[in-house]
Amino acid sequence: MTSVSVDEAMRRAIELAARGLGTTSPNPVVGCVLLDIDGEVVGEGFHAYAGGPHAEIVALAQAGQRAKGGTAVVTLEPCDHTGRTGPCSTALVQAGVLRVVIAVPDPNPVASGGAATLRAAGLRVDLGVRGTEAASGNVAWLTATRRGWPYVIWKYAATLDGRSAAADGTSMWITSEAARMDVHALRSTVDAVVVGVGTVLADDPRLTVRNLRDGSLAIRQPLRVVVDSAGRTPARARVRDGAAGTWVATAAEVGAGPDGGVDLPAFLAALHGRGVRAVLLEGGPRLAGAFLAAGLVDRVVGYLAPRLLGAGPAALADAGVTTIAEAIDLETTDVTQVGPDLRITALPRKREG
Ligand SMILES: NC(=O)c1ccc[n+]([C@@H]2O[C@H](COP(=O)([O-])OP(=O)(O)OC[C@H]3O[C@@H](n4cnc5c(N)ncnc54)[C@H](OP(=O)(O)O)[C@@H]3O)[C@@H](O)[C@H]2O)c1
Repeated sequence: MTSVSVDEAMRRAIELAARGLGTTSPNPVVGCVLLDIDGEVVGEGFHAYAGGPHAEIVALAQAGQRAKGGTAVVTLEPCDHTGRTGPCSTALVQAGVLRVVIAVPDPNPVASGGAATLRAAGLRVDLGVRGTEAASGNVAWLTATRRGWPYVIWKYAATLDGRSAAADGTSMWITSEAARMDVHALRSTVDAVVVGVGTVLADDPRLTVRNLRDGSLAIRQPLRVVVDSAGRTPARARVRDGAAGTWVATAAEVGAGPDGGVDLPAFLAALHGRGVRAVLLEGGPRLAGAFLAAGLVDRVVGYLAPRLLGAGPAALADAGVTTIAEAIDLETTDVTQVGPDLRITALPRKREG
């Protein structure tokens, strides 16, 4: 066996953490690598689902006696409280680990304090190794935990001239099968998929995570949510087919905003209360415009097909912008070709004032 550096171990722990994306809420994704006294990997683990063992516990179980005198490399500060499982800080101390390397401190006041407990027990604790990388892998949970409402990704599909449908309303399919499969992969990483009632009435989508090749359903499904102020979602709509959980969020239940639609901040707070940390907002243009106008979008993912329509509805309706100086500026963070289409990921820049 060869020994690995703490930095390499953290890179591996970040990879392991990503395996939990979409299944751990309301908990974070966490990965852990245990090195023995000689720096050899003796245990690996990740948090797979809320209520299941934490990453450190999985790695400690693998390592057994070989954890003694070793180093735990973990993407998030070990928890210090007893929830559905016991405190990881105590488990690390009891296993005889001498050093704990942490990428990101835990912002959750209920669970934080692990680093202090470890130090008080005499362990060496290093904080911040590959912190930016680990935080970006956990961005939805970290953001949602700090501010108390979910991280919102707005996803849309459009032609190169920004149309989401043709003039006669037909829109299936603007993008390629490869792009649609990519959307299913994106859905599988979130806790809820949200559309406005306009999309349900126009397209009757299922909003489930499916394998496009054989149509089979993924094991875990995000909550399907329709923002529908007056409860116009038909009883026979596909989102109500029982294939996954469904919530029709009405103004009567959530509260009404100034324009009579569902109050969006209250809606997001209600989703947070249901354990949702990451949301995929799939439109349509009106609801997306309202989210953007309210500054409630954290990430934009656009699938652009190399096609032109010249007429037809735009991918985004009124977002509160009337003049170019008010344009919602984005910072592009990724451009990837998916089949014939382009997937552009961008983050809204924080506005001044
Ligand atoms: N290309 C794409 O990526 C994509 C994605 C999705 C949809 N689409 C297309 O979009 C079209 C539907 O567009 P749409 O804009 O009517 O659909 P939408 O955005 O899905 O739904 C809009 C409706 O949501 C309800 N709503 C409730 N609260 C709201 C709030 N606070 N802000 C805004 N809306 C609120 C309103 O109806 P109530 O007043 O009755 O509540 C509103 O009319 C379809 O043709 C579909 O094909 C395209």
